[in-house]
Amino acid sequence: ALTSELGKQIKLKEVEGTLLQLATVDNWNQIQSFEAKPDDLLICTYPKAGTTWIQEIVDMIEQNGDVEKCQRAIIQQRHPFIEWARPPQPSGVEKAKAMPSPRILKTHLSTQLLPPSFWENNCKFLYVARNAKDCMVSYYHFQRMNHKLPDPGTWEEYFETFINGKVVWGSWFDHVKGWWEMKDRYQILFLFYEDIKRDPKHEIQKVMKFMGKNLDETVLDKIVQETSFEKMKENPMTNRSTVSKSIMDQSISPFMRKGTVGDWKNHFTVAQNERFDEIYRKKMEGTSINFCMQL
Ligand code: A3P
Repeated sequence: ALTSELGKQIKLKEVEGTLLQLATVDNWNQIQSFEAKPDDLLICTYPKAGTTWIQEIVDMIEQNGDVEKCQRAIIQQRHPFIEWARPPQPSGVEKAKAMPSPRILKTHLSTQLLPPSFWENNCKFLYVARNAKDCMVSYYHFQRMNHKLPDPGTWEEYFETFINGKVVWGSWFDHVKGWWEMKDRYQILFLFYEDIKRDPKHEIQKVMKFMGKNLDETVLDKIVQETSFEKMKENPMTNRSTVSKSIMDQSISPFMRKGTVGDWKNHFTVAQNERFDEIYRKKMEGTSINFCMQL
């Protein structure tokens, strides 16, 4: 158990070498036996890769650009988070079961830990990857403000923790490699945060086609506008402002923090950057994936 800034005990446990929240591990059998349906769409990300962003994009497409319909609930409630558990609240699995089809679900699980029925049912997967350095920075600030996650310690300490994959949901390297390797064997639309940032319309159009939708230009333009960082930062249905301060203290760091590519340059020292690049080369050896580190 690790201690958070508030001195709370944050209980984590490993499953096949991956740290997860204790309540998730306590619920592991229910999660693993989750029954996916062939028309499920699963949004998959490593934490801080732009999950909320792609969720809002997907929902805007699903609702044909109807902003009011997207305001029906906070983003965390719109797509059941399958491994989420916080008793006595209904678990992610229970929420998914209660949802009418076609379902859109969310997970941070690696390919290794994903409930097998998603593969068996050949579901559609929408994966968003974000470069490791920006993910690390974003996760560091998130762990500072989120009292349900361990205190990240100093930036220097967190650098080691992240590289060693000792964060909740495990190693960034294994996560990204695993999903990248699966992408040609299953129905996976593999997107990059950096591409969405550079050309949102183009990437949103890909998502739309993948979802089997056909929306016209004006609707697409509206979706681009409504899912911009500036809009989502002001939107109470996406900015986590309704989450209690005892869980997320946005005075420490806002949930919608910067939303940029390359903020790692404001955090990494030259020495850390060199060391990271070396480790990255080793860990990602043999993978064809290529990340953009700045726009
Ligand atoms: P930063 O901490 O770098 O600002 P997740 O939803 O997976 O937890 O990811 C959160 C990260 O995505 C945060 O990154 C957040 O600011 C960023 N983000 C959320 N909405 C965004 C948007 N519309 N455009 C760009 N980045 C966005």
